[in-house]
Amino acid sequence: MFSLEGKTAFITGSSRGIGKSIAELFAKLNCNVIINGTREEIVNEVANSIKSSYQIKVMTAVGDISSESFVEESVKKAIDFFGKVDILINNAGITRDNLLMRMKTEDWNAVMNVNLKAPFLFTKALVRPMLKQKNGRIINITSVVGQTGNPGQANYCASKGGVIAFTKSVARELAAKNITANAIAPGFIETDMTKIMSEEQKQSILHSIPQKRLGSTEEVANVAAFLASDKAAYITGQVLAVNGGMYM
Ligand code: NAI
Repeated sequence: MFSLEGKTAFITGSSRGIGKSIAELFAKLNCNVIINGTREEIVNEVANSIKSSYQIKVMTAVGDISSESFVEESVKKAIDFFGKVDILINNAGITRDNLLMRMKTEDWNAVMNVNLKAPFLFTKALVRPMLKQKNGRIINITSVVGQTGNPGQANYCASKGGVIAFTKSVARELAAKNITANAIAPGFIETDMTKIMSEEQKQSILHSIPQKRLGSTEEVANVAAFLASDKAAYITGQVLAVNGGMYM
């Protein structure tokens, strides 16, 4: 595998699901991690479990990533604690699904704030320090439906499509400074987000996946580790699909 020895990664939404798997794999690869989520007891549980398994440093950042002051404070705390942040994983995301004609403006705004505004806030807060250290990796978790669209998810799809365009713009701005920005577009992955689907929904989704199965959080984490490593130095502005062939 790839070494992330001596690096530090800020992973939003790492208290469960894909973010937690990324944090665990990065810790295994000797990377210090900052664990974020909104529920303190769960964030602490994940942080303590990682600390007891690996010889790395762990910091927790409990709070709402759509708050500008929380983002600025937690990035400052991370830099004070570790001296630097090499890798930013904008992973946290939410859904508020409904058909367009029933979608409330507050559900549109909530999804945009977490899925699109937060990656902007974190990237902005970390750009200056990354420019100073002349090195950085920005990895944004988008979604297959940000590429295809999906009925009942206009807000979510718009936010994830926005993440792709945001990633490419950041990649172009920072390419000459040894900072890469890439997106990972998972298909359907087994997490709390997909647990809420009915059996009927699951079956119809499996129908649309050439590999005929959902993906695992570890399969997404592996790609994040590669993109975060020195081996991916010449890859920027890309969207890597981890979707079992669902969208090609
Ligand atoms: P999840 O629902 O299991 O976990 C989401 C994480 O984000 C949790 O740690 C939660 O505490 C955190 N979070 C949510 N809102 C937050 C806020 N305002 N402030 C701080 N933390 C917050 O989600 P999952 O499935 O692990 O998804 C992770 C990312 O992958 C999301 O961006 C999601 O859109 C994306 N994705 C997931 C897919 C799936 O099938 N599970 C498919 C494609 C993309």
